[in-house]
Amino acid sequence: MRVVHGVSELQEWRRSQLGRSVGFVPTMGALHAGHASLVKRSIAENSATAVSIFVNPSQFAPGEDLDEYPRTLEADCALLESLGVDLVFAPKTSEMYPQGIPLDTREQRGAFVTVLGVSEMLEGRTRPNFFRGVATVVTKLLNIVGPDVAYFGQKDVQQFIVLQTMVRELFTPTVLVMMPIVRDASGLALSSRNRYLSPESLEIAASLHRGLLVGADLLTSKTPRPHHDEITAAIRALWQPFVDSGDFEVDYVSVARWGSLAELDSEEAHKQDTGDNTRVVISCAVYVRDRSLAATRVRLIDNVIVSAT
Ligand code: PAJ
Repeated sequence: MRVVHGVSELQEWRRSQLGRSVGFVPTMGALHAGHASLVKRSIAENSATAVSIFVNPSQFAPGEDLDEYPRTLEADCALLESLGVDLVFAPKTSEMYPQGIPLDTREQRGAFVTVLGVSEMLEGRTRPNFFRGVATVVTKLLNIVGPDVAYFGQKDVQQFIVLQTMVRELFTPTVLVMMPIVRDASGLALSSRNRYLSPESLEIAASLHRGLLVGADLLTSKTPRPHHDEITAAIRALWQPFVDSGDFEVDYVSVARWGSLAELDSEEAHKQDTGDNTRVVISCAVYVRDRSLAATRVRLIDNVIVSAT
């Protein structure tokens, strides 16, 4: 397995792969079984697999965990080598952003990619420049790697929808594949940020998924189909004891149509409903307090996708 740090080295490797199908998995490192599932799929489906490890500063807002974000390059490379990855790209920020990253978007420097609409929903409300950072870095990475297929996780379902919109609108010649969420035995979705939480708090965090399943069950089993607010109320009721104890603070819980992420039953969803889109995304973001370090709160996201007309 080769580990390269420079854009030109990576481009050189890509040229040596001409005629072979290349799969690509972009990550921010601190790899776990969720990332590994994407890598395994890429290896199974392509003749060569490249993985990037880059904690992208432009998708973090001031005050978010950019400095604390876990960086475990050696362990990550050992895992990727054992899986059979061909190439790891671990660039420095200056390599990816030669002109730097202006904190203030009125500063006229560099080039950024904005996907309108869907970027502003859900995660975009709490994290205003997040998807601009993600769309920009993924564009740069796809342009450098030139993969046939790139693999993403359903864990970040809105990220996938934003990127799918982006490659469609910009005619990017890479196919994007979404892989299911890998969870631990309690149902908690694996995340690099879980390591900020104590075992006791992780156990509590598992009820995030339980809540979403209650919502999914209500949506698919009750006729006539329950409205958005009825579903979110049922989910919130399951979480209420943790809200009361100060363990949870709910940022959002949403039931929305795949694609636009417009809230189910909203006028927006009716407008965009072409009739062939039965996929509904039930998603949430919750701040979970760490019980051992009361000052620490970690923002966790999760979702389930169900079919409902
Ligand atoms: P990161 O959080 O490292 O995630 C890399 C990929 O792994 C994403 O596609 C994410 O959805 C997927 N993933 C994370 N946890 C998962 C789980 N439990 N099951 C399945 N897949 C999972 O997402 C990013 O990095 C960045 O935004 C990036 C796309 C690399 C751009 O900087």
